[in-house]
Amino acid sequence: MVTEEIEELRTSILAQITEADNSSELEQLRVAVLGKKGSLTVMLRTLGKVPAAERAVVGRAANQLRDELEAAFAIRRNTLVDAELDAQIAAGAIDITLPGRQRLIGSQHLINQIRDEICDIFRGIGYTVVSGPEVETDYYNFTALNTPADHPSRGLQDTLYIRDRSGSHSTIASESEVMLRTQTSGVQVRTMEMQKPPIYVLVPGRVFRRDAPDPTHTPQFTQIEGLVVDKGITFADLKGTMDYLCKQVFGLDRQTRFRTHFFPFTEPSAEVDVSCGICGGTGCRSCKGTGWLEILGCGMVDPNVFGFVGIDPEEYSGFAFGIGMERTACLKYNVPDLRMLLEGDVRFLRQF
Ligand code: DAH
Repeated sequence: MVTEEIEELRTSILAQITEADNSSELEQLRVAVLGKKGSLTVMLRTLGKVPAAERAVVGRAANQLRDELEAAFAIRRNTLVDAELDAQIAAGAIDITLPGRQRLIGSQHLINQIRDEICDIFRGIGYTVVSGPEVETDYYNFTALNTPADHPSRGLQDTLYIRDRSGSHSTIASESEVMLRTQTSGVQVRTMEMQKPPIYVLVPGRVFRRDAPDPTHTPQFTQIEGLVVDKGITFADLKGTMDYLCKQVFGLDRQTRFRTHFFPFTEPSAEVDVSCGICGGTGCRSCKGTGWLEILGCGMVDPNVFGFVGIDPEEYSGFAFGIGMERTACLKYNVPDLRMLLEGDVRFLRQF
């Protein structure tokens, strides 16, 4: 072996080190050159065969080359490993500067918020919350509420009947006819059948009518019915309770007034208005200049209704009321169109 050979080896290996473009390729090269059976190692072992005169020179050159290559491998290895690490980080990167993804947490719909609010108001004064079926028979929805088959007040509510495919039905509705309930009032009858007075119940629930949707009507809406039956209940109790309800829902500064009305199941009956929250009662566009907003129906339970459930009207008296949640929500938050509550537009709903 001569110094020229060493020089050649040096040039060739240094070039290969530079060309290696990943750390494992470089490692293979290092083993091939400096490993136990590596080319330089083998060469160093054959130094003994070099003539004595040249040995010192060649030996020094060969050892120098080994040191130089070891250093070159180390430097190149650092560069490659750094680059590989950078690439790895970039590929699997978690960019901690990105804003987090917020999960949308659902919230209660305004209609249900108002419903629960009213239920809480009445629970607070000793009422129990009960429920009844949405698919109801004519008997509970009308007849036992003092609304016989030929009674004109049935025409006030457009009923959605559930009939067999032939659509056949008698012209005069029978008590067993099935329908989607038009009011929660039927639960009054169901409650009085099951429980003896004193009765203080609240009945939230969905009701259905054959109405075309418009700003003040939807074919499905939510009512809360109230029923009280006890000894010595008077119209004063009804007035006080309705006034309390309106003040709790709309604010203590609101006034209420009662207007005579007709419902088949109450006598006397009344509609309750609450003073307009926008003008304070002086009259504005919201209240159509009257200063009042119509909010609910109520009355003293008709003795005929007691007759259907076997309660003695000489011993007991009571009152009942019905209030629409959608209408209440619209009046409370000045929503101009009831249908907005049902369209499911989260930009609207999120406000509440
Ligand atoms: N059921 C009536 C309606 O749908 C509301 C109502 C009025 C319920 C007077 C009552 C009541 O219990 O006493 O419009």
